[in-house]
Amino acid sequence: AVDISKLRGGTGYITLDEGYVNTGSTTSAITYLDGEAGILRYRGYPIEELAANCDFVEVMYLLIYGELPTEEQLTNFRNSIRRHTMLHEDMRSFYDGFPRDAHPMAILSSVVSALSTFYQDSLDPHDPQQVEVSIHRLLAKLPTIAAYSYKKSFGQPFIYPQNDLSYCENFLQMMFAVPSEPFHVDPDFVDALNLLLIVHADHEQNCSTSTVRMVGSADANLFASISAGISALWGPLHGGANEAVVNMLEEIIENGGDVDKYVELAKDKQSKVRLMGFGHRVYKNFDPRATIIKKACDRLLDKLDIKDPLFDVAQKLEHAALNDEYFVQRKLYPNVDFYSGVIYRAIGIPVQMFTVLFAMGRLPGWIAHWKEMHGSKTKRICRPRQVYTGETKREFIPIEKR
Ligand code: ACO
Repeated sequence: AVDISKLRGGTGYITLDEGYVNTGSTTSAITYLDGEAGILRYRGYPIEELAANCDFVEVMYLLIYGELPTEEQLTNFRNSIRRHTMLHEDMRSFYDGFPRDAHPMAILSSVVSALSTFYQDSLDPHDPQQVEVSIHRLLAKLPTIAAYSYKKSFGQPFIYPQNDLSYCENFLQMMFAVPSEPFHVDPDFVDALNLLLIVHADHEQNCSTSTVRMVGSADANLFASISAGISALWGPLHGGANEAVVNMLEEIIENGGDVDKYVELAKDKQSKVRLMGFGHRVYKNFDPRATIIKKACDRLLDKLDIKDPLFDVAQKLEHAALNDEYFVQRKLYPNVDFYSGVIYRAIGIPVQMFTVLFAMGRLPGWIAHWKEMHGSKTKRICRPRQVYTGETKREFIPIEKR
């Protein structure tokens, strides 16, 4: 008899690692992350330098194609993306079918999945030209899909993309413009959004990226794989945390602003309450993205002279937690989501859209990983094993005797 678990690299042993804490699922040349030292680099470039010097579209290019673009490459890339920003008119009817109070992440995931019904000419994961078109389509259409989901939530007409605007300007215009009224995009908001999208753009094998790779490993098309990633991101322990942070801060304010009381609650396991925006599977010192975002948040509120009580409470909460033995011992620090919500609020983005913005930022990372996986000579379908803990063989009981 052949022991099939030893075929093609199997050892016959199964490693049990719930939550994949120590299991590498792949090799990757996209993002380097050192959780102890708080280092994050995309394709070798430190996140701090990219955030300070780049436009989000440049970072998209870097992640997906591996190098910073030349001016000519960047212009061609931007122009190609611009050509694809419109949604097929028939796709608008999807939005009629969703209830007004549908969560925009549910809409985003559904409509992205539906792209595979409208763009059937770019579904083959093994055809480089089709893959390229589907990448450009996705990058171009996601902001349109996202902005439409917001307009749907309060019944305003959709605003068509405007292709002479930059990626971020165009998104803000589709979100906030009203037909027949002049609309001015605030350059500070554009810069803030650009920065937030860059710091969210990739984070190696996180839950949603692993999902994209897992689904893609079965040769599912890019739209279907990204739709699955969006669903994974929606979870409050992952991308959904930015929305949960703001809800938590609002709750603290409503209950009198006592941050110490909330810290105590978060330490009590019985309460099932966690300090949202705190802790990270990999960062055990500080999250470099949180440092960048906090500075940007400070700058923006200061420049626009915005007094947001949420920011004050967030700072107090951070101070209380960082001086508490429970959080210190477990190396729990603010993560990328702790302050991003304060910036989104300053820009005027409603809370329900926060995770959608995260998805727009993470899209190039997901695509880069999907593409890297398909380019690998050793690609196999992802298929983890398990350690079975159920019943041993049992005798079948006919229904009348149960
Ligand atoms: N508040 C209170 N206690 C916490 C928190 C928190 N935010 N995070 C972790 N802990 C505690 C756990 O209860 C556990 O304590 P124990 O050792 O006494 O049992 C210990 O710290 C380790 O926590 P785990 O859940 O094992 O850590 P894990 O790596 O599995 O989870 C996670 C990481 C999901 C990010 C977690 O810290 C968390 O739930 N944070 C809040 C949600 C959040 O902000 N998510 C966004 C993450 S960033 C991103 O996805 C973009």
